[in-house]
Amino acid sequence: MGEESWSSSKPFLPHQRSSNSCSSWRFILVIASMFLGAAFLLALYFSSSSSATLLPHPVVILVSSDGFRFGYQHKAPTPNIHRLIHGGTEALTGLIPVFPTLTFPNHYSIVTGLYPPHHGIINNFFYDPITGDKFTMASHHPKWWLGHPLWETVAANNLTAATYFWPGSEVHKGPWACPKAFCQPYNSSVPFQDRVDTVLSYFDLPTDQVPSFITLYFEDPDHQGHLVGPDDSLITDAVSRIDAILGRLILGLEQRGVFHEVHLIFVGDHGMVGTCDKKLIFLDDLAPWLDIPEDWVHYYTPILAIRPPPSVDPAHVVAKMNQGLDSGKVENGGKLRVFLKQDLPERLHYSDSDRIPPIIGLVDEGYKVEPTRTGNNECGGAHGYDNAFFSMRTIFIGHGPRFAKGRKIPSFENVQIYNLVTSILNIQAAPNNGSASFPDSVLLPSS
Ligand SMILES: *[C@@H]1O[C@H](CO)[C@@H](O)[C@H](O)[C@H]1NC(C)=O
Ligand SMILES: *[C@@H]1O[C@H](CO)[C@@H](O)[C@H](O)[C@H]1NC(C)=O
Ligand SMILES: *[C@@H]1O[C@H](CO)[C@@H](O)[C@H](O)[C@H]1NC(C)=O
Ligand SMILES: [Zn+2]
Repeated sequence: MGEESWSSSKPFLPHQRSSNSCSSWRFILVIASMFLGAAFLLALYFSSSSSATLLPHPVVILVSSDGFRFGYQHKAPTPNIHRLIHGGTEALTGLIPVFPTLTFPNHYSIVTGLYPPHHGIINNFFYDPITGDKFTMASHHPKWWLGHPLWETVAANNLTAATYFWPGSEVHKGPWACPKAFCQPYNSSVPFQDRVDTVLSYFDLPTDQVPSFITLYFEDPDHQGHLVGPDDSLITDAVSRIDAILGRLILGLEQRGVFHEVHLIFVGDHGMVGTCDKKLIFLDDLAPWLDIPEDWVHYYTPILAIRPPPSVDPAHVVAKMNQGLDSGKVENGGKLRVFLKQDLPERLHYSDSDRIPPIIGLVDEGYKVEPTRTGNNECGGAHGYDNAFFSMRTIFIGHGPRFAKGRKIPSFENVQIYNLVTSILNIQAAPNNGSASFPDSVLLPSS
């Protein structure tokens, strides 16, 4: 009906107006058909701009900005981040990372929904206690990478995933073999805009081939944060560049008519805190209580990880170290506390893996542990601390059809994101540490 009145009124109306002195019934008919025509056009407009979909399936783009401390979005004008905030759902006081607040453990928790002991990446660097093999950030053997990352879950559900960098994405697991067309091997030299443009090119494929799940990763502003700490113009500039690169992504999606259909999730992995010369603890200051050979220490700071040889009782090491730290004779001794891993606070979820050395030291915010005095300049930034510190928080924004506009939600741990993504994609999730009810509390129902 609408279509008929629209097509008949269009040529008829101007002619009627200019040359005929029409009777009132005819005038009413013309007005009525004009109204119906306008209503039809309006309906057409709204259906093409928001409710009609070009893509035959839900799509999630998960974007990570490394070391994007919560609050950085206010350091510089960030029109694109703010567009996502106003048009989407934001964690009002930031996203809580897992402990330790380091890059690899956190990125892998985001995509598996698991705490580090369960996904296996307990640090950026660690040893297999049985074989003695070393894990580094370049290790791609699947034996290290436990759990089921989103790209694997997506593939197991017969959907397509694409990764433009993410820790663990190059690892072949289950149905995921890091396919050439949709999985980029990590190369930090690739300009950010090339990464965005490649992701945008996926939306030029026939619509049924557009990947359901896409990751995108940027090293900034973590890189600058380590050099100068969180409060420096280098950070402000890096935040502006991240905002601009998000703008490029948004514009590209808009040009393809899919911005309002795609779910864009913008996160970071952890925050950043300033460190400086006076905030140091030297392990050799503990020599009067206990000698700690360097080969016992697997990681110094901000998470101290010690594995003494089997002949040495870890409980004895912990007792001696804390005795020294509490003595008042060790510089900044009160800023380091050493634990048997099973005695760490439960909320840290950091004991249930053989890969975690038996002795873990926690340092206060902004402090660092070093083997010995070097006199080197130590001012810069660090992360890896207790995830209860606000400085370790990062950002979470969700934008797209399932995220309410302008909604603020309380802070939550990043292990919830896995279920959020599987809910949006409407696929079967693997067991994980996120709560099954979380997606219902955050997402709008699917239409
Ligand atoms: C995926 O496809 C395979 C092979 O066609 C089929 O056996 C399996 O049931 C499918 N899985 C799902 C979750 O649809
Ligand atoms: C990494 O990316 C840069 C910039 O695109 C390129 O020139 C270089 O060849 C790449 N390196 C490898 C190993 O692919
Ligand atoms: C986390 O998930 C793993 C795998 O399902 C499970 O074994 C573990 O008990 C869970 N831990 C917590 C604290 O929920
Ligand atoms: Zn990081």
